[in-house]
Amino acid sequence: MAVIADRCPQVQVTVVDLNAERIAAWNDPDLTLLPVYEPGLDAVVGRARGRNLHFSTAVEEAIAAADMVFISVNTPTKTRGIGAGQASDLKWVEASARTVAKAARGHTIVVEKSTLPVRTAAVIENILTSSERATESQPGRSFSVLSNPEFLAEGTAIADLESPDRVLIGGQDPEAIEALEAIYRHWVPAERILTTNLWSSELSKLTANAFLAQRISSINGVAAICEATGADVRQVSQAIGADSRIGPKFLQAGPGFGGSCFQKDILNLVYLCRHYGLEEVAAYWEQVVTLNHWQQQRIARLVITKLFGTVSGKRIGVLGFAFKADTNDTRESPAIRICIDLLEEGAILQILDPKVSEQQIAQDLGLPSSHGEGSWKLVTDVHQAASGADALLLLTEWQQFSEIDWPTVAALMRQPAWLFDARAKADATAAKAAGLQVWTVGEGSPV
Ligand code: UGA
Repeated sequence: MAVIADRCPQVQVTVVDLNAERIAAWNDPDLTLLPVYEPGLDAVVGRARGRNLHFSTAVEEAIAAADMVFISVNTPTKTRGIGAGQASDLKWVEASARTVAKAARGHTIVVEKSTLPVRTAAVIENILTSSERATESQPGRSFSVLSNPEFLAEGTAIADLESPDRVLIGGQDPEAIEALEAIYRHWVPAERILTTNLWSSELSKLTANAFLAQRISSINGVAAICEATGADVRQVSQAIGADSRIGPKFLQAGPGFGGSCFQKDILNLVYLCRHYGLEEVAAYWEQVVTLNHWQQQRIARLVITKLFGTVSGKRIGVLGFAFKADTNDTRESPAIRICIDLLEEGAILQILDPKVSEQQIAQDLGLPSSHGEGSWKLVTDVHQAASGADALLLLTEWQQFSEIDWPTVAALMRQPAWLFDARAKADATAAKAAGLQVWTVGEGSPV
């Protein structure tokens, strides 16, 4: 929404949330304290806030004044009831639709921005239409529902929004579609704006994420074969990515995909397939998630095996906790599962991440920072991470991890010491020269 405000100064954008603390953070005069860390976001907010971008808790007031309402709420995986573990919990979407139904005035275009199961628009439409009927005395009150899924990736969100591969708008009402298209046309070339029916739009979002995640599980599976056979996954990625039908992106082997979306969206797709009796299709997509979990377990086990079968009481420096670089987001981060497995085996973890807070790590690991076997602490530089450690385990590809001064770091570690590089990000040659044993994801020994 901040980018829309930035690119369309004549459009008034009000972001509303019931959470007063969060809204206060978005209004903080210190732009370094915005609740989300995203490169370039502070500049965008700095330009538009107070001009035509506003953050407020006055939810109903803002809806009443709006011509268009974007629903961008959480849709977590259900933890109980029908579809638990797979289906999305739509309670916030439903609550938002009810609030819009109550507060809207005149004709309102309601845009689904959250990633939603296919046919959710029907639920929203249903709620809105019954409110139209209930308030017939109010002249001219009506709604159009559009689906406008977001394809940005964290860490590159601003660039993705400013120059998207495509903008997708799904809907039935040509006037509503045109109104939303007109907003994007301020900065997106018309040929990159695709329009479809509602269900295609909703399904495209789930499918795009499923395809991306599938590539990662595929290459992580290939990485394991490479390690077993003496091939090198980076060479294999380059060779297959050179085929223009495959393309070079999303072929980076790693500790498994994280983030708030991939797993949730695939599980949603799996649930949808089962709902329509498409068991084989469901099983096919489910395997992408299974392989992702396997990759995380494989890395934890590998660390234990290489450290003579036990990590009990051993210090391990963990380089990176966020699910990818350039974000402070840890949702579904592979680091969580891997660290929990190592803690259960009694390791002492010295975790370094430039953006993730101690409080967040404690919440993710379900354990406060402490001392002794099976404990962890947050450290502030790579020297502290390496201090007395038997191994460094690189889990997030922060740029600083490719610039480590290995002779200094190796001297701080207990020998024989290991570098486990699950992102192929570190300078392995320099680490080896400094006396470390090195495991790099997907790199087999060619002999
Ligand atoms: C993903 C999609 O890329 C976006 O298009 C989509 O809009 C977004 O989900 C969403 O639905 O919100 P995001 O989760 O922010 O974006 O980040 P990605 O760059 O896709 O990375 C996801 C995970 O895959 C990360 O853990 C990353 O490290 C991992 N990854 C990515 C790899 O392991 N290898 C790769 O080659 C690429």
